[in-house]
Amino acid sequence: MEHNIFPGLAGVNIDTTEIASINGDKGELIYRGYDIRELSDRISFEEATYLLWNEDLPNEEQLGSFRSSLKSLFAIPEPIYSILRMIPTDTQPIHAIRTAISALASLDNNSEDIDLGNSHRIGTSLLAKFSTITAAFERIRKGLEPIPPDPGLSIAGNFLYMLNGKKPTLAATQTMDVALVLHAEHGCNASTFTARTAASSGTDVYSAITAAIASLKGPLHGGANTAVMNALEAIDKVEHVEGYVLDILSKPHGRVMGFGHRVYRVLDPRAVILKEVARHLAEESGDRKWFVMSLEMEEVMTREMKRQGKQIRPNVDFFSASVYRMLGFPIDMYTPIFAVARISGWMAHLFEQYANNRLMRPRLVYEGPRGRTFKAIDQR
Ligand code: CMC
Repeated sequence: MEHNIFPGLAGVNIDTTEIASINGDKGELIYRGYDIRELSDRISFEEATYLLWNEDLPNEEQLGSFRSSLKSLFAIPEPIYSILRMIPTDTQPIHAIRTAISALASLDNNSEDIDLGNSHRIGTSLLAKFSTITAAFERIRKGLEPIPPDPGLSIAGNFLYMLNGKKPTLAATQTMDVALVLHAEHGCNASTFTARTAASSGTDVYSAITAAIASLKGPLHGGANTAVMNALEAIDKVEHVEGYVLDILSKPHGRVMGFGHRVYRVLDPRAVILKEVARHLAEESGDRKWFVMSLEMEEVMTREMKRQGKQIRPNVDFFSASVYRMLGFPIDMYTPIFAVARISGWMAHLFEQYANNRLMRPRLVYEGPRGRTFKAIDQR
């Protein structure tokens, strides 16, 4: 019997959505009707999240009220600090964060209710607490006391403050906001699909988000930004970039991290914006090393891929790596920072999934043996 098989579900539409649209041929990303190029440096992460969750940009009063809800939810309960302190300090931070987010369910006496009101309540709490948890683990693993959130700061500002213990400059907060807005949402990527699949069984928000974090972590998805910076550090010098790339491409299925995308056939619009942010940070700081190496890697990869007839270009994770490096974040925090932003998109998708749910249940075509004769254990 003939079966249609779609490895990696490539090209399969699982449902309709009103949250975001990606045009891979034009290099276009749209949040609820707005082109990301219009939004990225003009709205805060809170406004972007309001837009993704509520279908429209907030007016001042709506934004003020959303910000005050977040302020009251930034703090994390003491048992979460205790859990973070119990985790070995050499654990990858994304494991610690996933564990803490999962543990929040047991501190919520209404964790199971998935109606829209309760899901919004939990989503707002997770959005507020995500950066607090991430910054707290970073401090704890360095042997430092976590810094309590400052309710007067935005999510971007607070995150920088809780990491460094110093009030961030306006410029640093704005750069962080751009990165968070750009990473907030991206359609049916692996982690969002994971969140929607978990939610489709009727499970609670905490469980679905825990599953999404687990999926984001992989190097083919949100883990790529960490892999890019590890590669740049290992290469170390611009004159070694070409050899590094050619060596990877000479291996069967060799992948250069930070390049390629399932949907984009032209440059990822988020990479276009982050490239300019990286350029600006490099010029401002006078430390051009990572940006110059990134430019060289882009050039070599574009040339080689063109030669092989493939349209493989940098993706969001490529330039975010050097941006985060220049902002001073430890390399293994890059994927957690992706999650701090993507909680926004994951929640928007959970609202949509719960509101119009059908259990996700694709099939696998069995190709294993049949008709075998059972033998008792002492005869095998
Ligand atoms: N380096 C070298 N060759 C590549 C790359 C790459 N990064 N990406 C694709 N190719 C080539 C390769 O020849 C591949 O064939 P094969 O599978 O035989 O090696 C061919 O292009 C077809 O690629 P594709 O069908 O477009 O790839 P895909 O849709 O299965 O995979 C991807 C998409 C993102 C997993 C892949 O491009 C990749 O592994 N990239 C590196 C990891 C990465 O940067 N991930 C971040 C993705 S964007 C942000 C996010 O989701 O978090």
